[in-house]
Amino acid sequence: MRHLIDSTDLSVKETQEILNLALDIIENRTMYSHVCAGKKLATLFYEPSTRTRLSFTAAMMELGGNVLGFSDASTSSVSKGETVADTVRVVSAFADIIAMRHYKEGGPFVASQYSRIPVINAGDGGNAHPTQTLTDLLSIRRELGHLDNLTIGLCGDLKYGRTVHSLIKAMNRYEGVKFVLIAPAELRLPDHIKNLAPTKCVETATLEEALPTLDVLYMTRVQQERFANKDDYERLKDSFVLDARKMQLAKEKMIVLHPLPRVKEISPDVDSDSRAAYFRQVENGKFVRMALIYTLLHKTTETREHSESLSVTEEPCTNRRCITATEPVERLSYEDHDGKRRCAYCNHVLANS
Ligand code: NCD
Repeated sequence: MRHLIDSTDLSVKETQEILNLALDIIENRTMYSHVCAGKKLATLFYEPSTRTRLSFTAAMMELGGNVLGFSDASTSSVSKGETVADTVRVVSAFADIIAMRHYKEGGPFVASQYSRIPVINAGDGGNAHPTQTLTDLLSIRRELGHLDNLTIGLCGDLKYGRTVHSLIKAMNRYEGVKFVLIAPAELRLPDHIKNLAPTKCVETATLEEALPTLDVLYMTRVQQERFANKDDYERLKDSFVLDARKMQLAKEKMIVLHPLPRVKEISPDVDSDSRAAYFRQVENGKFVRMALIYTLLHKTTETREHSESLSVTEEPCTNRRCITATEPVERLSYEDHDGKRRCAYCNHVLANS
């Protein structure tokens, strides 16, 4: 049985196979319309979501399968205090595959430890969002034709933006890729991601400076729901805005991606520019999720290989957004490239490291 918790759980080859399958599904829709008949997807969404949940739902329906689940933890047994471990044990009896979104970092990873069916991470707190990454990769491939030798600008909330973390981890494995990071000082990329690609990341202070060099511009929303202090959000929310005037500085073939929802970081006057690919990106999300669900339901022998080697630790994680803060799970850690020990659920440095 195979789960998808982190974007690098899939090797480059497996990622390629899923993208190829998505392209085949796009070309031959009817051939796939019954391939998951009789199978059920459980969407367990502990955090609000419209597009990701609907995208998973539409994907399973287009494969001929059925969907059940909840979109609001307050209407499920979670509100009675049930743990993630127990919820997935129960759901394993009702469904064939799970897509889980959780506000706590590491929630879907915990689920994968107790589930008898494949678990897909549909976004965990400010940590990771691997199916958005598959969406982004398919979009880049369809728009530009290749995933190597690209300069990718990432703009906005690089600290809490889980889509950015997963995208950098996945893209870092392709030849000739560079990342240009454009973020307010308080919302810079976390070290555990930057440490993976220290020589490939450059930071610039303005969009204007970065734009002429980019093949892909990945815009993100400042993640209001992750801020402890509302004033900080208000101060930072409109730090970077892309508009039609700035687009004049970009290459003719650059594409603009955004995981959506957008707030004000992309002005509506960019929407009519042919380089604005964010609404085409949404549809790619459905096709790539179809390919992923189909693949995980048909892969029965391989197990997840965590990219780092994990060990059991006594030391608690101090990150209040980590699933270990609220659920009685085994404490696991790994050693980062900088020699620090980090929590395996949320990647935060452990205090005595
Ligand atoms: C993203 C997410 O949930 O992280 N949205 C999505 O999955 N479509 C980005 C965001 O909410 O800003």
